[in-house]
Order: sequence, then C-alpha cells, then structure tokens
Amino acid sequence: MIPLAEPNLDGNESKLLQNCISSGYVSSSGPYIKEFEKKLSLSTGGKYTVSTSSGTSALHLALKSCGIGYGDIVIIPAYSFVATANSVSMSGASPWFIDIESKSWTLDCNLVDEQLRCETNWKGDHIYHNKTGQKIACIMPVNTLGIVCNIDAVEQIANKYNLKVIIDGAASIGAEYNNNQIAKNISGLITFSFNGNKIITTGGGGAVIGNDKSLMGLIREKSGTGKVYNGSYNHDVIGYNHRMTNVEAAIGCAQLDRVDEFIYNKRRILETYNQAITDVPGLSSIPCPKWSISSAWMSGVQVNRRVHPNIDKIIQYLNLNNIEAKLFWQNLSTQKPYKKYLHSKTNVTEKISREFIALPCSTNLEKNKQEWIIKKIYEACKLAV
Ligand SMILES: Cc1ncc(COP(=O)(O)O)c(C=O)c1O
Repeated sequence: MIPLAEPNLDGNESKLLQNCISSGYVSSSGPYIKEFEKKLSLSTGGKYTVSTSSGTSALHLALKSCGIGYGDIVIIPAYSFVATANSVSMSGASPWFIDIESKSWTLDCNLVDEQLRCETNWKGDHIYHNKTGQKIACIMPVNTLGIVCNIDAVEQIANKYNLKVIIDGAASIGAEYNNNQIAKNISGLITFSFNGNKIITTGGGGAVIGNDKSLMGLIREKSGTGKVYNGSYNHDVIGYNHRMTNVEAAIGCAQLDRVDEFIYNKRRILETYNQAITDVPGLSSIPCPKWSISSAWMSGVQVNRRVHPNIDKIIQYLNLNNIEAKLFWQNLSTQKPYKKYLHSKTNVTEKISREFIALPCSTNLEKNKQEWIIKKIYEACKLAV
C-alpha cells in the first residue's frame, strides 16, 4: 500500500537519538528540548514555544491555561479531527460545533457571529448561551489540512464577544497568513501536532506557541507539575505533565533541519494533483483562500457525488491498486460522543465529509509513483460513472 502520509526519517534522527542515549538525557529535560523550541519559534514566527507530548495535550494545556473548564463552551468547527473536540471535553468544557465555509474549509466566522447574536446574551463581561446558561469562553478554529483559518475574522469575533482564541494549527507548520509566518502576529495561542503523519514528526508530540510572555510562562509551568522552582516540591498551580521528552525533541530537531524541503515537497505534490484533475468532470481541488498559503499537509480531491454517486467504488479501485485513499474527517457533531452537544447547521461539513478523499502525499513520494496514482484516479473515475 502506498500510504497517505508516512514519516521521512532519512536525516540526522538516528545520530541525535544516539546522543540522547549516550548522554542519558532521555526524559523531560535535556538540550534538544530547548533547541527544538527555539527552532520552532524561528520557523513559525511565534515568540514563545512550549513543546508537549502530543497535539491533543497542547490543546488541553492551552485551554486550561486560559482558564477554561467546567461549564464553559468552546466554539469549534464541525469539520476537524476528533482531537479538537476531545481536548475541549478533557478540559471539562463543552464544544459548540459550527459549520465551515466552502471557500476555505475553515470555521465560518459569519455563521459564528450569527449564532452568537441569536443564541446568547451578555451577563457582565461575558456572553452566555440562552438555553444552556453556559458561558461562551473560547473560539478554537482549525487550520484545516494546513489551510490557515481567517485569523482576522476570528480575532474580530473574539474581541466583539470577549472570547479567548486558540488556533488548532496541528498540521500547519510552514503555512503563512497574509504573507506572514503563521504565529507572528497572533494575539492568542496556536498549537501544533508532530504525530507520525504530520509534516515533521517527533514520534508523538506537539507544541503551544504564543506571543504573550506571562501566559506562555504559565503554560510552561502547567506543562510540568506546576513547580514553584525546579527541584522543589512546592507547587503553585495544577500541572498536567504534558511535556515532550528529550528523545522526541531530538527527532524533532533533525526533522526541523529539513522542514523547508518537506514543505516544498508537500506543496509540489498537492499542486501536481490539482493540475492533474482540473479537466476531470466531478473532481475539484482543496480550496485555497486568498489569505492563506497552506502547508499542504494533506493532499486529496473532492468528488462531486452528483457526478460520481459511486464514490466508494473510486476508493475501492484505488485501494485494490495498493493506494491508500479514504474519506477523511467526518462531521464531528454527528459522532456518537458528540451528538448531544450544541451545533449549527453543518451543510458544508456534511458535504466535505462525504466527498473529500485523501490521497498519498508523503514528503518522499516519488514522482513516478504519483503519476501512477493519478493514472489510477482517471481509471477509477471512468469505472465509477
Ligand atoms: C486538526 C488536528 N487537531 C489535533 C490533532 C491531535 O494531534 P495529536 O495526534 O498529536 O494528539 C490532530 C492530529 O492529527 C489534528 O489533525
């Protein structure tokens, strides 16, 4: 099977891992952690970086450090990986699922505004949901597949309704917003994942990045055990031990040395698919809104079900030819654990959930293999009509 996205570990990973073992720094302290965080700040433009054990723990840490918990509501897009919703549940808050917009596949901020105007009321400094009485505490957009959400629109809503902003940027390392590095001008926080299928990996890992010194100081404390100072057993805040290890950071350092090459390859692969399908009836590309230069984490095609009602046959044909291809994320508001939570209408999410097929896009995917995949897509579309 040609996989969707496998890690590329042909650089200095083994050498740096060996250094961890010979030095004994295999746990939550060690030189690679600092180095990885420094490199991440440079790569994303964010002033402060705290590395974590996963993208989910980064989101959880960000939420708790912003004071979000039981009784609160966090607005998230209905189209995302389930970890976005899970992190909200882990914090004790409840998700409110809002649709994405078709021009960007990211959170529809006009719809957020409309829902907040119609379904909430001010009490003191905050808005509360009319029916549930819960406080709307945070807006958490997602950089879908590497496409950057409309950060200006998100921040406007946040200012208007006094909400915290946490961007789930899991797969958006290298992406740009209005020609700036992704974390350069953000007022809130952004998180990343370095799981094995991401653009760079640390095995499992993540990070929280932000520009507010004191908030990021708190995040650092809470990422450990909330110690007053290292070495003491006095604690002034609750900590979650969501830290990255030196072993993971070592892999991350080797990966970050090649991040430009990885992003270049990801964009080239996506562009090759996009070009190849321009004239194929019923197929269209992942959108590219004017404010975003995507990291192009995931490649794939949208298959119009009116033209190709047998989309499953397209997938089956690709799979039979040893090409991993599948319907990607599904509408979170219809998933079993999340059916009971608030949601807007989710028409766009529903359509993309049913029509977007992810395709192989590993950073080391060879040109001839991609050409072969494209040939099989053409054949599959003909067979499935
Ligand atoms: C949008 C999104 N959010 C959060 C995560 C969670 O990251 P992790 O798997 O590192 O916990 C992922 C991981 O795939 C993701 O795609």
